[in-house]
Amino acid sequence: MALAALGSLGLLVIGSIPTVIGVAEAIDAQKKQNAQAKERIKFHLTVKLSPGPDLPLQEGTVVLKDGKVYLDHPAHPVSGYKFNGFYFGYPGPENHQGMVSMASDDPPALHWIYVDKDTGELRHGSRGATAGHVIGPWNWSEDEEFVVLENSPYFFAVEEDDGAWSLYHDQSKKLVEKLAPRKVAVILLHRELQLGVSSRMVGGKEK
Ligand SMILES: *[C@@H]1O[C@H](CO)[C@@H](O)[C@H](O)[C@H]1NC(C)=O
Repeated sequence: MALAALGSLGLLVIGSIPTVIGVAEAIDAQKKQNAQAKERIKFHLTVKLSPGPDLPLQEGTVVLKDGKVYLDHPAHPVSGYKFNGFYFGYPGPENHQGMVSMASDDPPALHWIYVDKDTGELRHGSRGATAGHVIGPWNWSEDEEFVVLENSPYFFAVEEDDGAWSLYHDQSKKLVEKLAPRKVAVILLHRELQLGVSSRMVGGKEK
């Protein structure tokens, strides 16, 4: 009787090993799925910007227009397509995380957001348009509130001749000199997550 019990216990132990591995695999798959779900959460982008010295910060919304990326700001409204995007792997040998946004509804178009390598301006376009330019890696800040490009959360809003603010990103830091005497503001792009779901709740990390 005791022997039989031991026998069945031994069987139980052996039998449980594949189960344990199965659970670990399931957790791993779940983590991957969570990470992917986090990348796929759609968001709008907002920017707090003071339109001039001694003027209070006002919130603008990032919009896409004619291949460029603008700030629709109370001080200078721009009517474009409101950025509505998410992260997506850019097909290429580097396997970078890209960022896409809807750019029109009719016909529906999904565009890559990229930086023109010559001018530093943020642009949007088809994959063909991105060739040779900076397509990523895009990411989010540690607190997940802001967009990060090439490990930097800092972007520039630059006042165009018509007064509209357009967005730039340049790691070389020479851009500001190049853009002078235009007005240049250092900005952060805030992710306004949609669906009322915080990415923190989707992620594996508790905060
Ligand atoms: C993206 O950012 C997060 C948070 O800052 C970091 O943990 C992660 O390693 C980054 N991913 C890449 C591919 O750089």
